[in-house]
Amino acid sequence: MKTLTYSRITLLSLGCALVILFSASDARAWDNGLALTPPMGWNSWNKFACNVSEDMIKSMADGMVSSGMKDAGYQYVVIDDCWQVSRDADGNIVPDAQRFPSGMKALGDYIHSKGLKFGIYSDAGWGTCGKRPGSMGHEYQDALMYARWGVDYLKYDWCNTGKRNEEEAYSTMRDALKATGRPIVFSICEWGDGKPWLWAADIGNLWRSTGDISDHWTSMKKWPDGSCCELGMLDILDLQVGLDAFAGPGHWNDPDMLEVGNGGMTTAEYRAHFSLWCILAAPLIAGNDLRSMTPEIKEILTNKEVIAINQDALGREGSRVWKDGDREVWSKQLKDGSRAVVLLNRGATASEITVPWETIGYPASVSANVRDLWAHKDLGKMSGKFSAKVESTPSWP
Ligand code: GAL
Repeated sequence: MKTLTYSRITLLSLGCALVILFSASDARAWDNGLALTPPMGWNSWNKFACNVSEDMIKSMADGMVSSGMKDAGYQYVVIDDCWQVSRDADGNIVPDAQRFPSGMKALGDYIHSKGLKFGIYSDAGWGTCGKRPGSMGHEYQDALMYARWGVDYLKYDWCNTGKRNEEEAYSTMRDALKATGRPIVFSICEWGDGKPWLWAADIGNLWRSTGDISDHWTSMKKWPDGSCCELGMLDILDLQVGLDAFAGPGHWNDPDMLEVGNGGMTTAEYRAHFSLWCILAAPLIAGNDLRSMTPEIKEILTNKEVIAINQDALGREGSRVWKDGDREVWSKQLKDGSRAVVLLNRGATASEITVPWETIGYPASVSANVRDLWAHKDLGKMSGKFSAKVESTPSWP
């Protein structure tokens, strides 16, 4: 798989016309001024689940700096579920004192002292998915507490919500966060069940568009109770088709956190996973152990040329522009009129993929510079199309 940018060299005016055509006006009623490009950070869930502690989170913040992740743009260190144990007599949320003996304010201060930002997790129901206290009925109290602790990012889940209305629940927490006066990125996590792309742009900065990712190339598998489904990376990708129009600066589709480096895919598959999340303008929330990354994984997560595609200021989500069986082309328009393109081969054998310029919104007569962002190499000026042989991934099928 290759990630390429096609830059306009000739026919500048045509390219400009395309830019104008695609620039969306962003008239949102609510805007906290945050996440103008997809948020970048790390979250504890994919690797550690409930096994969170102050020492682990601090060492992860250290790892984010020493590994070069911070330098590559990662900012938020987010503690997912299970940091909280109960409520006190006044209804205040109580963190696990054994696992977080110094308290959340001290942890936030530590994270901030590294030049990073502090994220936390709660739930719109009576309990979180890990059966810890949720925020229902305590929204303003919890938001105030988070602000006192220096929280910069809240992931807000959807377990144990009964018949609660999603728009109401998420708007209530949005208003509570706003009332604190502290800028806090609001990450909606209701798994795409209520089609949040239709209503959440005025409520949150990002919204999950699917169920949880699993660390597999593809594995659409029913859960034991017959409900649907354990989702591999490509299953999640398929569920993004058609959602691109709903994303933009400050409000992003979230196909769930990265599994890069967690062991269930090959290096080539993780490269594909990262390329695709970048072209989707997805939040880049790493989920691996930052203290012990192999050089290959570090190279993927810190590839600044690929990250620049994700963070492009135009804020367009890329889309699938061509599919023939196992072969696909994904394309994302960038602010300078270039296109980032992913050639994806999902099949068992290597295959040639051709991208005629019209497929990515360029006239056939354009001559464009092509660059391979993984090889960090200019491939030369091409007319009318680009073709490449794309390897299959060894572990599939
Ligand atoms: C799920 C959520 C996961 C994780 C987990 C914690 O609902 O999708 O990303 O936060 O809850 O219990």
